[in-house]
Amino acid sequence: MCKAFIFDLDGVITDTAELHYQAWQRMADEEGYYFDREINEQLRGVSRRASLDIILDGREISEEKIADLMERKNNYYVELLSTITAKDVLPGIEQFLLELNARGIKVALASASKNARPILHRLGLTPLFDAIGDGWSVNRSKPAPDVFIHAAGQVGVNADECIVVEDAEAGVDAAKEAGMKVVGIGPKERVGHADWVCEDTSKLIVSQILA
Ligand code: BG6
Ligand code: MG
Repeated sequence: MCKAFIFDLDGVITDTAELHYQAWQRMADEEGYYFDREINEQLRGVSRRASLDIILDGREISEEKIADLMERKNNYYVELLSTITAKDVLPGIEQFLLELNARGIKVALASASKNARPILHRLGLTPLFDAIGDGWSVNRSKPAPDVFIHAAGQVGVNADECIVVEDAEAGVDAAKEAGMKVVGIGPKERVGHADWVCEDTSKLIVSQILA
């Protein structure tokens, strides 16, 4: 029996991939690193540090420089986040959350992002969540299961009674590793190993998943 839904944020509740792309691109241009939208796709669901490693593509730089680049990218990203409003909630998500609330099913967030709380707040969705797990909650990022286990613990529900909604391959792997069922959002090539696959958020229907 499902007692909790645990949501990823970026790509499930709102589409911040474009803003991450613009912020990484600005930093990469300043540094003369090659970066494009195809590489950006590899960063879906991946932590800030692991994203930078992908962009560095084997270049060796000091830890100090790594910290500087991550901070700079994050400052550009935070600047862009100021444009986010309730209009940026992905189709069907608010209704889906309201239905879970009405059914008494717990709702938690499990995001790799350290910016998850302010983003949820800007979207106006914080009151619909019972717990928030973010990039500050755990040390190991997805595909490690930690943030999902943390979120389930926060709402007091066993892993096998949780259903996760995820758009990233690393996120689907993390949720399965945590012993949870997963709804994958996006193309089969990316989330085909989830228990259910939904092309986009507008097609999410609570009763179908719980059937
Ligand atoms: C994930 C995004 O949700 O959070 C990744 O899909 C991002 O692209 C990661 O790198 C970390 O986010 P932040 O906001 O802490 O840099
Ligand atoms: Mg995501």
